[in-house]
Amino acid sequence: MMQNDIERVLFSREELAQKTNELGQQLSVEYKEKNPLVVGILKGATPFLSDLVKEMDIYLEMDFMDVSSYGGGITSSGEVKILKDLDTNVEGRDLLIVEDIIDSGRTLSYLVEMFRYRKAKSVKIVTLLDKPEGRVVEMKADYVGFLVPNEFVVGYGLDYDERYRNLPYIGILKPEIYQ
Ligand code: PRP
Ligand code: MN
Ligand code: MG
Repeated sequence: MMQNDIERVLFSREELAQKTNELGQQLSVEYKEKNPLVVGILKGATPFLSDLVKEMDIYLEMDFMDVSSYGGGITSSGEVKILKDLDTNVEGRDLLIVEDIIDSGRTLSYLVEMFRYRKAKSVKIVTLLDKPEGRVVEMKADYVGFLVPNEFVVGYGLDYDERYRNLPYIGILKPEIYQ
């Protein structure tokens, strides 16, 4: 079974629900009356986004983007390619980007810059996880669920080779799985 591949649980289903609820309450205060566009970054952000918006009793809209990082990265700002763009015109809109994790910071630094160029009124970030030791470019989220160590974490959206996104908690893979 899938769950046998997990060495230990970092954040349980209950801890994730508690944190998501907390973040949803805070965001509801900040975005009440703003009709924000909640932007999910495929695919990792989808379980978190899905739970988060259900904790927000305000008017909002949702849209999704899919981007891919070229990895390694030739420039310090990182090369990011848009695989699926938003359907929505962001000009004048308050944007809330939802991510599962910030690692190098490349994905978000590219997106924030792009949304500013497209004349969004405001751009903020909520990320479930933040791995500060992974940073290559400077990037700070406005709302962070949990800090994580420099280990390979999976679950609740985060994959290893496209698997484990459907784990209901965040865990650390057994080394033999990726070795
Ligand atoms: C992962 C994760 C973030 C990004 C963070 O997505 O979901 O979007 O990497 O890394 P960064 O801070 O170094 O840019 P990935 O590109 O693996 O796609 P996925 O969400 O479809 O797994
Ligand atoms: Mn992602
Ligand atoms: Mg991935």
